[in-house]
Amino acid sequence: MRIVKPIGLSIELILIVALATLMLCVTAGSGQAAIQQISPTAPPIPTAGRLAQPKSSRQVGVPAAATRAAIPKDNPQTPEKIALGQKLFFDGRLSADGSVACSTCHDPARAFTDRRPASIGIKGRAGQRNAPTILNALYNKTQFWDGRAKSLEEQAALPIVNSVEMGQPSLQATVDQIAGIAEYQEAFKRAFGTSPNGGDLLRAIACYERTQLAFDSSFDHFIAGDPGAIDPSAKRGWELFNTRARCNKCHALTEEKRDPTNFTDNDFHNIGIGIIRHNVVELARQAEQRVASGDSLAVDSAAIQTDFSVLGRFLITKKQSDIASFKTPNLRNVLVTGPYFHDGSQETLWDVMDHYNKGAGLHNPWLDEDIQPLALSEQDIDDVVAFLASLTSADYKEQGLRELTRQRALSRTERPQRDTARAFGPKPDRPKPPAP
Ligand code: HEC
Ligand code: HEC
Repeated sequence: MRIVKPIGLSIELILIVALATLMLCVTAGSGQAAIQQISPTAPPIPTAGRLAQPKSSRQVGVPAAATRAAIPKDNPQTPEKIALGQKLFFDGRLSADGSVACSTCHDPARAFTDRRPASIGIKGRAGQRNAPTILNALYNKTQFWDGRAKSLEEQAALPIVNSVEMGQPSLQATVDQIAGIAEYQEAFKRAFGTSPNGGDLLRAIACYERTQLAFDSSFDHFIAGDPGAIDPSAKRGWELFNTRARCNKCHALTEEKRDPTNFTDNDFHNIGIGIIRHNVVELARQAEQRVASGDSLAVDSAAIQTDFSVLGRFLITKKQSDIASFKTPNLRNVLVTGPYFHDGSQETLWDVMDHYNKGAGLHNPWLDEDIQPLALSEQDIDDVVAFLASLTSADYKEQGLRELTRQRALSRTERPQRDTARAFGPKPDRPKPPAP
């Protein structure tokens, strides 16, 4: 079972939680983790402050054509829909007991994440995955770490009915809960000319999310022609990113041309995260039987609530080569959206770099070919981190500086992932996947 760090809890609370967890464990089936309760209630709902406002599309670095292409024909942006979506995004009344909003886990003050390893939702229940940011999510070709939703509209329906997130029995239950509220009746009428209904609720939330463009970083100013916008270390880091550090193999649209926009190939890879803790072959066999392809609710709860979570893209495609593959994330604002990876298992960008530098170093037959020892020096690692830090948007600049100081201090004393012998050693043999 995953150990989730209880943040800021008293000893008594931890004991109660441990007991509750134990009781839940006893009732759980084999191969699946029980629902873990981290606290008696969900964390408080963040309010919509300045950082929640729709963002300008005139920020330095905004890719104009890609931004237009990210707006679907059947759900154009309008000010009325955006305003309704923003209201819904911050409203706990969408959840079963009124305690959880989208913003609970996607808090603008935390760059639209919750800064926890894995999210905590209704009744203090914990999931297995780290909450990605909503910033720039409009550019994602698929949503979720395993790409199980194709659009923001499709995505928004799932947390509402997930039993550890917002806990509703159905989308209609949410609609029923807000249908009587005069403010919503008026807002739906203004935005869609209808009374509150599920399809339009999802459309409005997606419209709001599509206003969350986050560019205007020092790196954007550098690319736009200001050579002094980033320091020499970050410049060396950008160079390494595209050469010896091999990051561009996945964090770029193509390997041929440098890609300063979203730092993703929109593809899925096994880079060796979390896999060591599980017998994935056995899990994959069980998942094949239990989670029928195409049943999006079953896949969603398997991904969020069970040990099957580690199987990643396999849960959707059932292809062996997709075992423990996850979506290459956009790297913008990565400094302020940690902890890192789909399971939030790494605390600092230095830990992330150590992971890549040693070539994951695990016996994992599905490990991507592009994960291999990198032989990066400490200076190289600092440089790549400096580059990653330069991707922080102006809105989060001060937060980023504080976070960089915190992570750097940690990295000088704690480097749990560092394995210099492996990083500078030969490429290890890879075990063959078991016969299908
Ligand atoms: C209890 C915490 C929680 C709540 C509440 C929640 N989310 Fe999330 N969200 C997550 C987690 C965790 C993931 C990643 C899950 C996965 O990939 O399997 C996620 C993923 C996403 C993604 C995909 C981003 C990407 O880069 O792939 C979007 C978009 C999103 N959530 C929007 C929403 C919206 C809209 C709501 C409200 C209707 C919402 N979330 C409610 C925790 C939460
Ligand atoms: C083989 C493809 C591949 C290569 C090469 C690669 N990445 Fe990644 N990266 C991914 C994938 C896939 C994930 C998500 C994996 C997961 O969570 O299981 C990821 C996650 C990350 C994250 C965590 C982001 C977050 O929001 O949690 C960072 C930071 C990162 N990569 C930076 C880099 C850097 C820097 C390099 C070069 C040293 C690099 N990556 C090389 C595919 C790759």
